[in-house]
Amino acid sequence: MAFEVSPVQSDDYAEFERVFRAGFGEIPETTTQAELDFFDWCDLLAARQDGRIVGTAGSYPAELTLPGAVRLPTAAVTSVSVSPTHRRRGVLSAMMAEQLAAVRGAGVPLAVLTASEATIYSRFGYGPATMAADFVIPGRARALRQPIPVGDTRLLSQDEARKTLPELYEPVARTQVGELSRPDGWWALANSRDMAKNFAVVHRSEGIDDGYAIYGVEVKWEPGVSQNRLRVDELVAHSPAARSALLRFLLEVDLIESVYFRVRPVEDELRWLLADPRVLRARSVRDWLWVRPVDAAAVLSARRYRVADRLAIRIEDELCPWNAATWSVEGSPDGAECRPAPTGSDPDLTMGPAGLGSLVLGGVNPSVLVDAGVIGAAAGFDRDRADLFFGANQAPFCSTAF
Ligand SMILES: CC(C)(COP(=O)(O)OP(=O)(O)OC[C@H]1O[C@@H](n2cnc3c(N)ncnc32)[C@H](O)[C@@H]1OP(=O)(O)O)[C@@H](O)C(=O)NCCC(=O)NCCS
Repeated sequence: MAFEVSPVQSDDYAEFERVFRAGFGEIPETTTQAELDFFDWCDLLAARQDGRIVGTAGSYPAELTLPGAVRLPTAAVTSVSVSPTHRRRGVLSAMMAEQLAAVRGAGVPLAVLTASEATIYSRFGYGPATMAADFVIPGRARALRQPIPVGDTRLLSQDEARKTLPELYEPVARTQVGELSRPDGWWALANSRDMAKNFAVVHRSEGIDDGYAIYGVEVKWEPGVSQNRLRVDELVAHSPAARSALLRFLLEVDLIESVYFRVRPVEDELRWLLADPRVLRARSVRDWLWVRPVDAAAVLSARRYRVADRLAIRIEDELCPWNAATWSVEGSPDGAECRPAPTGSDPDLTMGPAGLGSLVLGGVNPSVLVDAGVIGAAAGFDRDRADLFFGANQAPFCSTAF
């Protein structure tokens, strides 16, 4: 029996959430009002068969920071799931095609997501564009290499966190390549989920708040000895000094047997603050943000490039055929233009949308993708030239979960 994909209105939020959760093996009864309220911020699509929802996909409007601190409107894709009863029949494929068409129709040049599995989304033109690492320090040996000023810190109430954290996050999102804006609905949901059971600590310098961390303590006592694990969910700072002070705070909380840092930059400076860097163990180094150029020419024109140069790039894109062309990209640190290349131009690089998605934030060099066979290069192509052009001065990083 055929299914159809169509938008979801508020009457169907509860059913949408139930099917979404079931796809992840989660019990629907735990759905909260805040989760349903978040859907007002989203464009939701459902696949229906016989009037029942069998697949879910949504997105909310955000902005992604590209090299050069340029922000582009972006569809942040979320709530993707297909009922266990309807898998491998093309439901996801149909929803992805519909969603990309809607994003294009709204004039939004980018879509992004985080993936439950790294095997799902390249076929829809998403490429991994930022990496993230989890780190653990097992045991109580967490001495610092050199003293870090203790700083002025305070813990926030849940209400205070609701107001203060968005204000502290926003300047970082504006300047950090790969970071996403977070609409108020995102914060409302995060606050209801996280701040009831975690702590928010704020750092202050010279009377001005300049960073925060969100952490939780999993409490466990063996007779007479604490085995507590401190889990750091987020650390946002406006300066290296504020970041170091917050890290010191987190490393020195009492009664903690191990510290776990979630979703950190792979090159986290934490390692360099420790007297014994080897106590820091990487638990997982993985793809985090996946980027899908929906309007490739708009994206290539918007971002900045590390050096002034011009490359011809052929894009092959069946799902978004308006991208399929050879483009001449002339860019520099100050700006860029992307135009159709003159007819008959030979491309320097050839790629699908997923390859381009991986290059957009400068998180990987084109030469690596050429070597891996992800993208193609003309014979005799100068790899250093492409690497210099596309590289970013700052490693892209996204901390936002959605
Ligand atoms: C991932 C999921 C959404 C796929 O839905 P689906 O309707 O079965 O996907 P489709 O039938 O449209 O599959 C399209 C293609 O992707 C492949 N595919 C689907 N899920 C895949 C997976 N998890 N790993 C690898 N390939 C996958 C299919 O084999 C098919 O390949 P083909 O075009 O070569 O035949 C579904 O399995 C699911 O809900 N999983 C649990 C929740 C989840 O992980 N959601 C994603 C959140 S980011």
